[in-house]
Amino acid sequence: MHPRWRRPGLGPLSSAPIGVFDSGVGGLTVVREIARQLPAESLVYVGDTARVPYGPKSPDTVRRYSREIAGYLIEQGVKAVVVACNTATAHALDDLRATLAIPVIGVVEPGARAAVAGPTPAVGSRRVGVIGTVGTIRSGAYERAIRALDPLADVLARACPLLVPLVEEGWLTHPATELVAREYLAPFQTHGVESLVLGCTHYPLLRPLIARVVGPDIQLVDSAQETAADVACVLQAAGLCASGQGLGTRRFVVTDAPDQFARVATHFLGAPLEAVETLALAA
Ligand code: DGL
Repeated sequence: MHPRWRRPGLGPLSSAPIGVFDSGVGGLTVVREIARQLPAESLVYVGDTARVPYGPKSPDTVRRYSREIAGYLIEQGVKAVVVACNTATAHALDDLRATLAIPVIGVVEPGARAAVAGPTPAVGSRRVGVIGTVGTIRSGAYERAIRALDPLADVLARACPLLVPLVEEGWLTHPATELVAREYLAPFQTHGVESLVLGCTHYPLLRPLIARVVGPDIQLVDSAQETAADVACVLQAAGLCASGQGLGTRRFVVTDAPDQFARVATHFLGAPLEAVETLALAA
C-alpha cells in the first residue's frame, strides 16, 4: 500500500470534502446529483481530460490511472472517494476499496440496485438491459452486481461506444445520435427488457433521446441519481455528513484543457465555474 493513501492519526473529518473522479466531463452528472441531494457537502472533482476515454483501455491501465487520481484526492484530505466513472468502477473499485482507508463509492452497485428495485414479473424472470463502454460491458461488472441481487435476472448488456463522442460533441438531440441510438438499442426492445441501466456517465445526458427511442415500457435507470443517494447513506452510516446549513465549496481539477472543460461543465451544471485547476499526471 502506498503510505500517502492513509491519513495519519485520526480518521476523516465530516467537514472534509468528498472526492469525485471521472475520466473527463461525464462524472459531472454525478457531481450535479450530489450537489442537488447533499448541498452542504464540499466537493473536489478530478476529470482526467488528458487521458479520456477510459472505455476502450485495458483494465490494468484504468486501475493505474484510478490509483493515481485517488492518491491525489487523499492528498487533498477528502473524507470519501466517489468513482463517478463506470469503466473505472468496473476495473478499479475493488482495488481502491482494498487500499484506501476511507469509504469508496462506485456507480455500478447503486445502478444495479435501482435496476432490480421494481417487483419481479408475475411470469418468468426479470429482464434487465445494460448499456456502457466496451470496458464496462466486457468486465461483466453490471451482470455480477445485478445477479448478486436477483440470481434469476436475465441480463442483456451491450457496449455503445459511439455515444460518448456524440455527447462530447454536444449532439444530445442530433438526428445522427438518434440513428446510432436506434441501432444500439433495438435488441433491448426485441428482448423485452423492463429496465435499461444507463451504465456510462455520459448517457444520462441522452436520457430524453433514449426514452424516445425505447418507448415508455422500458424504465431508464440513471446511475448518477442512485450513486448520490448511496453517497448520502454511506456518509450517514460513517458519521461523516457535513453539518453546516450553507452550500459546500466546489473545486474542479482537470489533467488537460481546463478552458474546454469549463465550457462543457457550465452546460452540464447549469452555472459557470469560478475556476478550473490543472493537475499534471504522467501519460
Ligand atoms: N466515464 C466513462 C464511463 O462512465 C465514459 C467515458 C470514457 O470512456 O472514459 O464509463
